[in-house]
Amino acid sequence: MASGSKINFDEPIPEMIKRLEIEHKEFESKLAEVKTCVEDNNIMHAAEIIRSISDKIIHHAVEEEARLMRVIMRKAKEQSSESVKIMQEHNWVMRFLKNRLITLEKVSAPSDTDECAQAKNDLNEFVDNLRAHFKEEEQIVFPLTLRVERAD
Ligand SMILES: [Fe+2]
Repeated sequence: MASGSKINFDEPIPEMIKRLEIEHKEFESKLAEVKTCVEDNNIMHAAEIIRSISDKIIHHAVEEEARLMRVIMRKAKEQSSESVKIMQEHNWVMRFLKNRLITLEKVSAPSDTDECAQAKNDLNEFVDNLRAHFKEEEQIVFPLTLRVERAD
């Protein structure tokens, strides 16, 4: 795992979900900063901000898969399909962080306008998709996990 930190399997699920929601808010404030940088044509700084939260986003995603999906698959497999799809969105998040972010970090001053426009487009798309992903988790994955966790 990129962040190097382990998953705490002792943290109760309701507390964990509260923490994940707080982390979404923290990520959101960084994503708003990224949007501002993109508007200001400051691609380098936008990439730097994403880089600064990259490990935390990866760890957050790994925790969701290891703990929340484990509860859902054990206790409510028949209700899991939407949540499984939402977890699969982590694939493009990882792909962006592991591949595209590195090329964005190399896009320097607006020397090449096409490259710059493409970079801005990809950054905006990443922010929009990640925001939508967090919302889906908060509306579908988190409530389902809480509901089936309590059903013991
Ligand atoms: Fe997620």
